[in-house]
Amino acid sequence: MFYLWRRSQVPVKQPTKISRIDNLIIILVCIVISIISSYKLLLISPLNIADIFSWFLAFTEILISSGLLILVSKKENPTISSRQIFLIITLLLAVQVAKLALASTISPLSMIIPPALIISQGMGSITALAWVSIASLIWPDPEIVINNNLFFILLVCASIVSLLGGRIRSRAQLLQLSIFVSIGSFLSQWILIGKDKISFINNQNFVLANGDIFSDSLVLVIAMLFTILFIPIFESIFGLLTKARLLELADKEKPLIRRLSLEAPGTFEHTLLICGLAEEATRMIGGDIDLIKTGALYHDVGKLHAPNWFIENQDGSKNPHDELDDPIKSAEVLQAHVDEGLKFARKNRLPKLIANFIPEHQGTLKMGYFFQKAKEKNLDINETYFRYKGPIPQSKETAILMLADGCEAALRAMDINASDKEALKTISNIIYSREKDGQLDDSNLSKGEIFLIKRAFLNVWKRIRHRRIQYPTSKNNTFS
Ligand SMILES: [Fe+2]
Ligand SMILES: [Fe+2]
Repeated sequence: MFYLWRRSQVPVKQPTKISRIDNLIIILVCIVISIISSYKLLLISPLNIADIFSWFLAFTEILISSGLLILVSKKENPTISSRQIFLIITLLLAVQVAKLALASTISPLSMIIPPALIISQGMGSITALAWVSIASLIWPDPEIVINNNLFFILLVCASIVSLLGGRIRSRAQLLQLSIFVSIGSFLSQWILIGKDKISFINNQNFVLANGDIFSDSLVLVIAMLFTILFIPIFESIFGLLTKARLLELADKEKPLIRRLSLEAPGTFEHTLLICGLAEEATRMIGGDIDLIKTGALYHDVGKLHAPNWFIENQDGSKNPHDELDDPIKSAEVLQAHVDEGLKFARKNRLPKLIANFIPEHQGTLKMGYFFQKAKEKNLDINETYFRYKGPIPQSKETAILMLADGCEAALRAMDINASDKEALKTISNIIYSREKDGQLDDSNLSKGEIFLIKRAFLNVWKRIRHRRIQYPTSKNNTFS
C-alpha cells in the first residue's frame, strides 16, 4: 500500500498529446475488443429482446472498461505515447482472442500473467493491475466456467506479478519472479484444486493438457521465460523504459559514456558530480531516482562534438572562444551541444524520457557571459540569440537536473573553507535566478520541494568538498 501511495505522489508531468488518428485507431481497437468479447451472446437461437439487451450491456461494459484502462495508464504515466497505449489494448485484444481460441488448451494463468509482466515493467504496477482485473473478469465465451479456486489463484498470482514487476530492477530478478510465481501457482493449485489433477508422466498431451496442474504450471514457466526474452524487443518497438533498461543505460561502459570519459574528461567529471547532486535531490522529493541518474549521465553528451570549446575540458590550454572573438558564434557553439546531443540520442536509440534531459537541462537559459561580451562590443543584438532554444523543463526530474547543472560549477569553484551558510546562499541564489527567469514554470516543483532540493545540494557539497578539484569556472560558469 505504501508503494502505491508513493506512486500516486510521483511528480506531475505534462501529459503528451495523442493525435486524432491515433485516438481513432485506439477507439476502433476498443470496439473490436468489445465485439470479440460479447458476440457469442448473440449466437443463441432463438434470439429475443432480452438477449440483445444483455449483449448490449456486456458490449458497453467492456467498452467502458477499456476506456477506464486507458485513463488509468494515462494517470500513472502522463507522458505515455500512443504506441504504448496500443501495446496495452493490443495485449487485451490478444488475450480475448486467445480465450476464444485456446481456452480448452491453455490455462488462464498462462494467458494473463505473462502480458501482466510486460505491462507492469513498461507502464507500472497500477496500469498492470487495472489490465489484470479487466482481462480476468471478461470472458468472451459464456460456456467456459472457471473453477473458483483457479480464478482466485489467477488473481493472486497476476497481482503479485503486477506489483513486483513494476519495481524489479534487473533481468535476474525478473527470472526469479517468473520461476517463483510458477512454483507458487503449482503448489496453490495442488492444495486448493486437488492432487488428482496431477499426472506427471501419464498424459499423452503432456505439455498442453489443460486441467493438469503440472502441465499448466510448466506452460506458465515457458510463457514467462519467453516473455522475459522478448521484453527488450518490446522496449525498442514501443519505447518502453523499464527499470532494467534504465540501469543498463546507466552502465558507464556504454560506448557513448566511454567516449565522453576519454574525449571530454572534464565534462565526464562534471556529469558524475551532477549525478550525485541530482540523485540526492530526487530522493529528497520522492522522484524517479533511476531516471534522473541515467538522464544526468547523458545530459551533456553533445559536448563530444567539440570538447575543447567547453571550459571544463580546456585544462589550462587556450580558450578557442577568445581566438574566435565573436560572441554570436560562441553562443552557436553552446547551442550546438544541445542539438548534437539530440543527434547522439537518436543515433544511440536513447528512450525519449532520457533524451528529454538534453534540451530541458538548458531550458531557455541566457548565455550571460557571451551576452555581456556582445554588449561590451556594442553589437546590435537581440537577447534571444543568447538564449538556448528550450523547451524549459517539463518534469521535476529535468528541472532538478537544470538546478544541479547550475550549482555544480559554482560549488566546485567555491572556497574550501566556505561555511555551510555561504554554500547554501550560493545554491539559493542560483536556484532563485532560474526561478525568476521562468525556467521552472512547467516543472510543477513546489516551494517546499525547492527548499528540499537546496538542502540536498548542500548535503552533497558537504560530502564532496574535501576531495574537490578546482578548475577556473568562477568567472565563466555560464559555459556549462
Ligand atoms: Fe549542458
Ligand atoms: Fe552540464
